Amino acid sequence: MFSEKFLKRLIKTNGVTVLTGAGISAESGVPTFRGKDGLWKNRDVMQMATQQTLKSDPELFWEFYNWRRELLKTVKPNLGHYALVDLEKQFYDFNLITQNVDNLHFIAGNTKVLELHGNISKTICNECGHEAEENEDVSGAVPVCSQCGGVMRPGVVLFGESLPQKALSDAQEAAATCEVFFSIGTSAVVEPAASLPYIAKGNGAYLIEINTERTPLSEHADEVIIGKAGETLPYLIMALDRY
Ligand code: OAD
Repeated sequence: MFSEKFLKRLIKTNGVTVLTGAGISAESGVPTFRGKDGLWKNRDVMQMATQQTLKSDPELFWEFYNWRRELLKTVKPNLGHYALVDLEKQFYDFNLITQNVDNLHFIAGNTKVLELHGNISKTICNECGHEAEENEDVSGAVPVCSQCGGVMRPGVVLFGESLPQKALSDAQEAAATCEVFFSIGTSAVVEPAASLPYIAKGNGAYLIEINTERTPLSEHADEVIIGKAGETLPYLIMALDRY
């Protein structure tokens, strides 16, 4: 599955950076964004995750996010997530960049996680930026800010919004300085995350993609593994143990 050349290179590497997308959580039962999963009540999920929907129809916006939050309460990390915990333990300079907002990398046990698109468990005010405390009640159909009375939103990046600056610059640095870069379970089309593999490759990293299908990144990768993250990553850990 993984080439000998890659395994030999990986074992000698200090710097490993991993980018994950919705595909790594698919085997946990979290729907992806594109393809057949990208619909909620026959609506495009990407249309739900916008300021426009929050402003024009906050009830619908929050119905969608409350549905996602409830769903996430029922899911657990899968073997792909756990394999990345093992990978973090094996490399001195390890960074995990995720576009996922589902918290599953932290729940699995990774500690060095850069969340590029935020975290759905947080609730912040769309007007004044106040972040709800853990004991604050945000369970209403449309949660309202305790400080300014404004409409709240989950702590995720909505379409068209900027990414958290620190997480993005740390991610760009992790991409620029690693020796091996993994792109796992992402369609590799949403910027600026989509540029990270190219930054890595431009700085001499070995680029490896793991996905159930080819993506626009595939032709630029040094190695493409077609398969499920939850099956291929445990195999990688097993192969590394034998080297
Ligand atoms: P996508 O839904 O665009 O892509 C998921 C990718 O995972 C696809 O390329 C699938 O082929 C692949 N895949 C599915 N199951 C897999 C499995 N078991 N193992 C490996 N790969 C698998 O999700 P993202 O690339 O994460 O942004 O999307 C990027 C961003 O677009 C999201 O973070 C979100 C979305 O709009 C925001 O909400 C800001």
